[in-house]
Amino acid sequence: MSKPGRQPRVLVVGSANMDLVTRCEALPRPGETVFAQSFDAMPGGKGANQAIAVARSGLADCAFLGAVGADEYGARLCDVLRGDGVDTELVRELRGVPTGTALITVDPAGTNTIVVVSGANGSLLGLCATDLTRTRECAVVLAQLEIPVETVYAAFTAIRESGRGMAILNAAPARPLPAELLAVTDLLVVNEIEAATIAGFELGAVEPGALQLSGAARDAALARCGELLELTPRVALTLGEQGVCYASRDGARYQLPAARARSVDTTGAGDTFTGVLAACLAADRPLETALQYASAAASLSVEKPGAIPSIPREAEITARHAAAYAYSGGKHTAAGTGQENRR
Ligand code: RIB
Repeated sequence: MSKPGRQPRVLVVGSANMDLVTRCEALPRPGETVFAQSFDAMPGGKGANQAIAVARSGLADCAFLGAVGADEYGARLCDVLRGDGVDTELVRELRGVPTGTALITVDPAGTNTIVVVSGANGSLLGLCATDLTRTRECAVVLAQLEIPVETVYAAFTAIRESGRGMAILNAAPARPLPAELLAVTDLLVVNEIEAATIAGFELGAVEPGALQLSGAARDAALARCGELLELTPRVALTLGEQGVCYASRDGARYQLPAARARSVDTTGAGDTFTGVLAACLAADRPLETALQYASAAASLSVEKPGAIPSIPREAEITARHAAAYAYSGGKHTAAGTGQENRR
């Protein structure tokens, strides 16, 4: 739970879904019917996941701006958000439209497929004066793409006009983006698929089973990050179990190996990374530390099933961060790899 007495510093503008999760021996191929070993309904949605990641990190108070239906799933999602200390004052309960759902299938290796039914998330339109005032008061506004792009644009424009604060866009699920939205985005967080959709290139850096990039793949990933800087001033390119690359127009370049993890379910790992990164930046943590902390949190999240149930809390993140990223001789290294981060 976020600590009392602090300003809400991160506003997450995004989706809330009830995740309907089946676990199967193998993901079904097109045209194939398979049996599931289990079924669960668990709260999720990229926006709600990221809001809870912010709150559980203990680094920043968090408010959530989203929409749910006037139904059981919506009520449960709001309860879960509030239970983790997220301010839900800006959540709309819409009549005549159901809460969003996500149909998720997970295989024994933790790989998933996700189909989202937008429901109320698709009707999150028209920010009111209170929404915009709260947006301008924040240190960070964080959004994803499971809600209408015009709503993300309105929130980002408000924080840009305030002259302070940062707009972070996690461009997931992948879709081509209007130039107007990218022009008011301060930090873009994307995985390889999203980067390819937005910028039209294939990276091909991820090597299954490897915990870090080979030298050539690392150079290619950093070069791709550099290309994405034509779109926004800062870019974080997440590479799953091979870590993250970061680049900014002021010349910063980092490649950070992933923290070691035993994956059972990757659902929500990207949301955990992004939420904790946003919380760190709101709390003015140095960028390299923020990337490490977010990576440590993401590595914990893949070790438990579900999205929200797997998001770690402050003490666990701190312990994983200390175990995974050592500090020696003025340079951070990923423990056990000896690989330097800064390029
Ligand atoms: O990123 C994981 C999330 O994607 C799930 O919780 C699901 O709801 C979809 O939005």
